[in-house]
Amino acid sequence: MYQIHTADHYLWENLNLDGKLVLEGGTSWGNTTQRIAEKVEEQGWKTRLISVDIDDDHFNQIQELLHGRFEELQLRQADLSRLDFMENNVIDVVICNYTLSSVNQFPLRATKALSEFHRVLKPGGQLVIMEEMPIWSVENRDYPYWSQRLRVIKSISVLKAMAHFNEIHPIDLEQTLGILGFKQVKYQEFKEIIDSEMATRFLDKRKQTLLKGVNDIENENLTKGFVEITEKLVKELELAKEFSAPAYILKAIK
Ligand SMILES: C[S@@+](CC[C@H](N)C(=O)[O-])C[C@H]1O[C@@H](n2cnc3c(N)ncnc32)[C@H](O)[C@@H]1O
Repeated sequence: MYQIHTADHYLWENLNLDGKLVLEGGTSWGNTTQRIAEKVEEQGWKTRLISVDIDDDHFNQIQELLHGRFEELQLRQADLSRLDFMENNVIDVVICNYTLSSVNQFPLRATKALSEFHRVLKPGGQLVIMEEMPIWSVENRDYPYWSQRLRVIKSISVLKAMAHFNEIHPIDLEQTLGILGFKQVKYQEFKEIIDSEMATRFLDKRKQTLLKGVNDIENENLTKGFVEITEKLVKELELAKEFSAPAYILKAIK
């Protein structure tokens, strides 16, 4: 979903994956997996990658797309907060992009995932996290489309009594990583450019969730209102083609 233009330099600074075993947290559609594959090819690195997601929906497609691009590619369905299949001190680099706020749908689960990252990393191993920056309110003038999109997605989740993702502020993440024993934690904020097509696809998925169980809510006006708000936003995003969102990259060492 995410196309990062401004952060690329910071992301790859001091990050050499040659001969390394990398754990990727949150495969999803494989956007980050593909970005890593491109970098590996460009640099001629020999890299082994284990990508973990709780949901294996896109695994076949990604395996086919990235066949032969890594020294070894393993896609594994598992909960990042319980990496039982992995020994201690085996991973050189953990890369976890836009996934912690999803793990954080359930309070404390993101902390458990970070603790697992610490356990499986070798001493001196690197942790790289890219995340969305939390915003205080929908009136955020710097990121109007982003905040409206969050309002729609989260409100629909609440209406359906579903868990929704919770962004973590880098200050809180920095402190938590310190408690877990990570060192040299540093982060940089940046403006992420999001492609409207991907964003509207996600909004449409939420609209379908709302419509599917239309009787759950037992209030036609509420459902109709949210469908209207969602469709209006989709139209605006389509016209805008892309929009910006607040994000950050955080790095730490075990
Ligand atoms: C926004 S997507 C990841 C995006 C992807 N990393 C990228 O850069 O495009 C978040 C992913 O986290 C996964 N996820 C949520 N909770 C998880 C957990 N506890 N363990 C493993 N994966 C989880 C979801 O299934 C989803 O695929």
